[in-house]
Amino acid sequence: MKKKILVTGGTGYIGSHTAVELINEGFEVVIIDNLYNSEIEVIERIEKITGTKPGFEVLDICDNEKLTDFFSRNKNISAIIHFAAYKAVGESVRKPLEYYRNNLVSLINLMEAMKKFMVSNLVFSSSCTVYGQPEKLPVTEDAPLQPATSPYGNTKQVGEAIIRDTVSSDENIRAIALRYFNPIGAHPSALIGELPRGIPENLVPYITQTAHGLRDELKVFGNDYDTPDGYCIRDYLHVVDLAKAHVVAVKRLTDGKNKSGYEVFNLGTGQGVSVLEAIQAFERATGVKVKYRVVDRRPGDIEKIWADPSYANIELGWKTISTLDQAMKTAWDWENQIRKK
Ligand code: NAD
Ligand code: WQD
Repeated sequence: MKKKILVTGGTGYIGSHTAVELINEGFEVVIIDNLYNSEIEVIERIEKITGTKPGFEVLDICDNEKLTDFFSRNKNISAIIHFAAYKAVGESVRKPLEYYRNNLVSLINLMEAMKKFMVSNLVFSSSCTVYGQPEKLPVTEDAPLQPATSPYGNTKQVGEAIIRDTVSSDENIRAIALRYFNPIGAHPSALIGELPRGIPENLVPYITQTAHGLRDELKVFGNDYDTPDGYCIRDYLHVVDLAKAHVVAVKRLTDGKNKSGYEVFNLGTGQGVSVLEAIQAFERATGVKVKYRVVDRRPGDIEKIWADPSYANIELGWKTISTLDQAMKTAWDWENQIRKK
C-alpha cells in the first residue's frame, strides 16, 4: 500500500514541486491549502506532470475545527510536510500579528492534531534566515541562531522551537526541520513555478519580470559590501532539488532511520553566488539582457551567507544536481509560460 503524505501549502511554490516528486516516488499525496497565495489550477498541473491527481481540500489550517474534521476523515497519514505559511519578509514587518497568527497558530493546530490523531512524522519548512549574518561561512547547522530581523524570520525560529519542544515531550512524534537557502527556478515542464503576488521581493522573480518587460529595471541593493565583487552573496538552489530533499526526509522518518526525534538540515548548494553573478548566469542561460541599476542597500539584508550542506549530503544522501544556469533557464521558461495567458 502507498504511504499517504499530507502536504500543507501544497499548491504553493515549493509544495507543488514536492508533491510532484512524492508522486513520482510512489507516495499518495493529499494537499490542504487555503489558496491565499496559490491557484487551484496547480492541482491539474501536478496531474499533467505526474499522471496522478493528488487529493486536495481548500482548508485554512488556522481553522482548528475544520482541521480536526479533516483529520477525522483522513486516516493513516504517514507523514506531514508543512509548507503552509506567509513568507514575505517586508510584509511581515508591516503586519506582524497576521504573520505570527498564520505561521504559528497553524503549526500549533497541526501538532495538536498529530497528537490527537496519532500522526508521528513532520517535516517543517525552515529557513537560513534563522542564522542572520553568521560569523563563520559556510554556515553549519550548529551555528548560533541570531535574533530575527523580521516577524517572518521570528516565526521560523519560534516554529523550530515549538517543534523541538513538542518532540522532546512526546516520544511518538518525530520531526525534521529543513533550513532552505534561496530556492529558485521552476519545474522543467514550465507547468508549475513561483507566482509572486504584486511586485516581487525576491531576486530571481524580479530578474525574470524585468527581462520580460514587466518591470523597467532591476534595482540591485548595494555593491559596497565586504565581498569579492561588492555584491551580496547567497546560496541559490533549484526548487526541484529542494523538493527531492523532502522526499528523502519523509523516507528517513517513515523508515525510522532518523538519529534523534528532532533533526535539522541545511539545504543549499554550498556555493556562494553574488547578485552580479546571478544576473550574469541568467543572461548566459537565456541570452536575454537584464537592465539593472545599483541603488542603496536594502535595510536588513544579510551581507553574505551560504550553506555547508555536508550534513544533508552525508546523512540524507541528498545533494543539489542542477547548476545555477539551469535553474535560471527554468525560471525564464516559467515566466514566459505564465505571461502567455
Ligand atoms: P508559497 O506562498 O508559494 O506557498 C505557501 C502555501 O501555503 C500557499 O499556497 C498558501 O496559499 C498556503 N497557506 C498559507 N497560509 C495557509 C494557511 N493558514 N492554511 C492553509 N494554507 C496556507 O511559499 P513557498 O515559497 O512555497 O514556501 C513554502 C514554505 O517554505 C513556507 O513555510 C516558507 O516560509 C518556507 N521557505 C520559503 C523560502 C522561499 O524563498 N520560497 C525560503 C525558506 C523557507
Ligand atoms: C537575494 C539577494 C538582495 C531583490 C529572503 C528572505 C529569507 C528567505 C529567502 C524565506 C539579496 C538582492 C533582491 C531585488 C536585489 N525566505 N536583491 N534586488 O534576501 O536572501 O532572503 O528570501 O525564508 O527569509 O529574507 O532573498 O531574493 O530577497 O534577495 O538586489 O530586487 O538579491 O539584496 O542580496 P534573501 P532575496
